[in-house]
Amino acid sequence: MSTINKRIPPLKNSSYNLSDYKKIREGFSWNDIGKDFIQKNGKVNAAYETIDRHVEEGYGDKIALHYVNGDEKQTYTFKEVKEKTDHYAQVLKNHGVKKGDRVFVFLPKTPDCYVSILAIIKIGAIAGPLFEAFMQEAVKDRINDCEGTVLITDKEMVNRVPQDEIPSLETILFVEDIESLPVKAVNGDVVEWVDVEDGLIIHYTSGSTGKPKGVLHAHRAVVHHYISGKWVLDIKDDDVYWCTSHPGWVTGSVYGLFAPWLNRATIVIQGGRFKAEDWYQLIDELNVTIWYSAPTAFRMLLNQEELLEKYDLSSLRHVLSVGEPLNPEVIYWAWNKLGVRIHDTWWMTETGGHLIVNFPSEEIKPGSMGRAFPGITVGILDEEGKELPRGSIGQLAIRTPWPGLMKEIWGNKEKFANYFKYEGWYLSGDLAIQDEEDYVFFQSRNDDMINSSGERIGPFEVESKLIEHPAVREAGVVGKPDPIQGEIVKAFITLRTGYVESKELLEEIRTFVKSNLAAHAAPKEIEILDELPKTKISGKILRRELKEREIEIIKVK
Ligand code: WT7
Repeated sequence: MSTINKRIPPLKNSSYNLSDYKKIREGFSWNDIGKDFIQKNGKVNAAYETIDRHVEEGYGDKIALHYVNGDEKQTYTFKEVKEKTDHYAQVLKNHGVKKGDRVFVFLPKTPDCYVSILAIIKIGAIAGPLFEAFMQEAVKDRINDCEGTVLITDKEMVNRVPQDEIPSLETILFVEDIESLPVKAVNGDVVEWVDVEDGLIIHYTSGSTGKPKGVLHAHRAVVHHYISGKWVLDIKDDDVYWCTSHPGWVTGSVYGLFAPWLNRATIVIQGGRFKAEDWYQLIDELNVTIWYSAPTAFRMLLNQEELLEKYDLSSLRHVLSVGEPLNPEVIYWAWNKLGVRIHDTWWMTETGGHLIVNFPSEEIKPGSMGRAFPGITVGILDEEGKELPRGSIGQLAIRTPWPGLMKEIWGNKEKFANYFKYEGWYLSGDLAIQDEEDYVFFQSRNDDMINSSGERIGPFEVESKLIEHPAVREAGVVGKPDPIQGEIVKAFITLRTGYVESKELLEEIRTFVKSNLAAHAAPKEIEILDELPKTKISGKILRRELKEREIEIIKVK
């Protein structure tokens, strides 16, 4: 365990939104926080809380967002975001969208993408944001699974939407047109007041078996988003907050949109992919104060240290990380070179919000993900679901319930039930250790799931795509340890008769997965074997054996 690592003390002379972890934890109740969000009639609307409330409270002219994409820059106030959202909401209503309908959003990281999500939620429908790099198959599988009826996209990305294969899809709205679409007046308020248990947003995420599953969250999650935004992101009124994730991933929706805006932050939306120079320049130019990103990005920045000379990053006061293990080296680098602590956070698509975190007012133990959020109880369980003593490795579980916890897996009661097989616990699928001071240390996944650059990839999905290629007979896909990306996707395949190994063939197979599924899921390495290891009885491919091969090779090196 990494407890021997030097601890990092909290910065002095600062006031934080959560000043005393132990005290707050003792007096904590979710109900106390939730009260603020419930209307007099007992109803709620997360989109109203996120934007409209601030306009009503007199903050309409405050800057809600800065959008940067290369040379393009835009700024919106809260009032402007509200007006645009209302217009989108009315257009959706005019197209017959009703409470509970699933409306998908397939857009790059632009203000339109954020506004679309809010507009859907505002009228009581369920938002289904899709990651911008998805290809046909990934788009189709998701919309089909929960029978989405409407899609908001643009005229370029629509080329990756196989409309003929999505029978439920009735309407496609293009952001290029929405602004100028006339709207018929909607009677009364455009806000649909809903119950706390009504559907809010659906995020698809991979498991180790089967197709991606639809994790459905309820409006009650706003309570969790709000209070974790306040205490963990430590948002204050003059902050400029930047979360680098796309809203198609849960980090991008919960901590890129809901949590910061519930706390009335000015957010930064950055278009385009990762480039160290652009990122540093953006922090410098916009004076970003709070920054939420992932270990892979930090590791890439660390490798280009010379850039630090060129940019002024002194505006940064609070930095956070999520999605994959954060190496102590990276924490020490940021501490020594940037003078900031990186605060690791642990949670999952299914948990809807932060569960294990580091607070700015508390000590950091590098190598640990932090401690349980107030109101959250961690358990390290054995195979029977019994709690293990401190210091032992076991299954990381959380006492149920809490407001952010998913409501269901769309159309799959069995998959949902798998998370709750031990009475009173949510089972994460991670293995971890908790020390005597309550700090939790991530060990590994307890299944075959791959984590590459913080993106969760199910091996089954990649294997299924691989064997659709005419040359591939069988495929086994694993995560291979990688110093930058944490893991990379590695595929082991056997070839059908008549095919011989060549560089071109391997590249063709890789491109086949990339162009049908998604770039991040395409194997970075493909190795051809004569035979894949299998279980004797059922003939199932033994991914663990394939993975051990990779780990052995690294050890020998
Ligand atoms: C899995 C969840 C919602 C957060 C983004 C990823 C891994 C998450 C950490 C961390 C080590 C982490 C776990 C978890 N993970 N945070 N701080 N340290 N591992 O969400 O795609 O649903 O994946 O990501 O293995 O189970 P996700």
